[in-house]
Amino acid sequence: MDKLLVRGGKPLAGTVRISGSKNAALPVMAATLLTPGVHRLRNVPRLRDTQTFARVLELLGAKVAFDGNLLTIDTQDANSVEAPYELVKTMRASIYVLGPLLARFGRAKVSLPGGCAWGPRPVNLHLTGLQAMGAQLEIDHGYIVGRNAKLKGATIGFDVVSVGATAQLMMAAVLAQGTTVLENAALEPDVTVLGEVLVGCGARIEGLGSRRLTIHGVPSLQPIDTTIIPDRIEAATFAAVAAMTGGTIRLENVIPDQFEAALRKLEESGCTLQRSADAVTVSGAARPRPVSVVTQPFPGFPTDMQAQMIAVCTIADGTSVVEDTIYTDRFTHVPELARMGARIELKGNVAVVKGVDRLAGAQVMATDLRASACLVIAALAAQGETLVDRIYHLDRGYESLEQKLVALGADIRRIH
Ligand code: EPU
Repeated sequence: MDKLLVRGGKPLAGTVRISGSKNAALPVMAATLLTPGVHRLRNVPRLRDTQTFARVLELLGAKVAFDGNLLTIDTQDANSVEAPYELVKTMRASIYVLGPLLARFGRAKVSLPGGCAWGPRPVNLHLTGLQAMGAQLEIDHGYIVGRNAKLKGATIGFDVVSVGATAQLMMAAVLAQGTTVLENAALEPDVTVLGEVLVGCGARIEGLGSRRLTIHGVPSLQPIDTTIIPDRIEAATFAAVAAMTGGTIRLENVIPDQFEAALRKLEESGCTLQRSADAVTVSGAARPRPVSVVTQPFPGFPTDMQAQMIAVCTIADGTSVVEDTIYTDRFTHVPELARMGARIELKGNVAVVKGVDRLAGAQVMATDLRASACLVIAALAAQGETLVDRIYHLDRGYESLEQKLVALGADIRRIH
């Protein structure tokens, strides 16, 4: 199992080009199932998760080819409707194929995703929404089985804001008969962009970027031809690297508005920012100031940056408070940071972080994607050597992370 060896303690500086967004690419990949034809997706990050999703599409009968970051998906002959446990268990986002399969074929058999490293992560909103649209679903031997569905428009109100359920039902609704209204929809750019891509293919969606989406079903769509947006979480993670190491990093190929909440928090912690239309330069202070952070659905501070922000707070000049309201037990990084000398008290979903002068290198273990990013950031600022174990999580969500960090001056090496 690969590990990363990091010798920390120096400011990182330079320019980094941000890759395409994993969480924007995955639903668009699923949406290719809605229409038989050849779909082209540019700027798709080469990651374990996009490769796993490509494999899911292949099992459904699609022909999938990566050429650099251009992904071509031919769904002309995709006529299988079964997404097996072996793949779905490795990536929850595979559930995204359910809505498109029901919309196009009227049937689907998709493994129910299990829990994940930080909690149960239910899919009840996906299922009740599809049922409200007329899908007959049952759980059979761990699979969600949908039969004889002729999806019809419905009005569906979410009691919590869900990125996945909004994207799922939007995909199901674009080919359904009649009008679907989604209330309390997610505003995350990944969802809005999916809607824009579908509109580009002939879908009729009103209210994109608002909490109320109205989707008028159409009989068919054109194939997708699109460029995936930059990864706002990767961008914010590199911004946190500048904050943590006191360096200056220019983030290129970004849409600053899409990670404004994280940028504002880093500014509050002492970073200086220079923004332009598609780039941000982040200069870290000699030592971060303490901050108070509460994760919220977009446009609030993202849960996917909670761990990286805690890393920054560990060396702040005072006590920070970080609360995660989206995933209340997503804190597996906390005991690992403690191994590096961080002083963090966890009270339910609130981490109280008392800043220390310096972290010290240690052997640590990552348990999920963003926790891994947090440990790497911490290691870059820590005195001495840190060995980060189980970094396959990083390969799920950060394209060429070590190469990008090395280009910024990091002393980081993968050990096979
Ligand atoms: N929820 C339910 N029922 C559902 C679905 C969600 O109660 O049926 C709850 C969740 O338990 C959570 C909240 O709703 O408390 C929000 O979850 P959401 O559905 O928005 O999450 P998701 O779609 O499963 C996506 C990202 C995650 C990111 C969350 C929140 C993808 C592939 N995943 O997950 O990304 O944390 O939105 O922004 O887009 C990551 O990239 O590291 C990652 C985990």
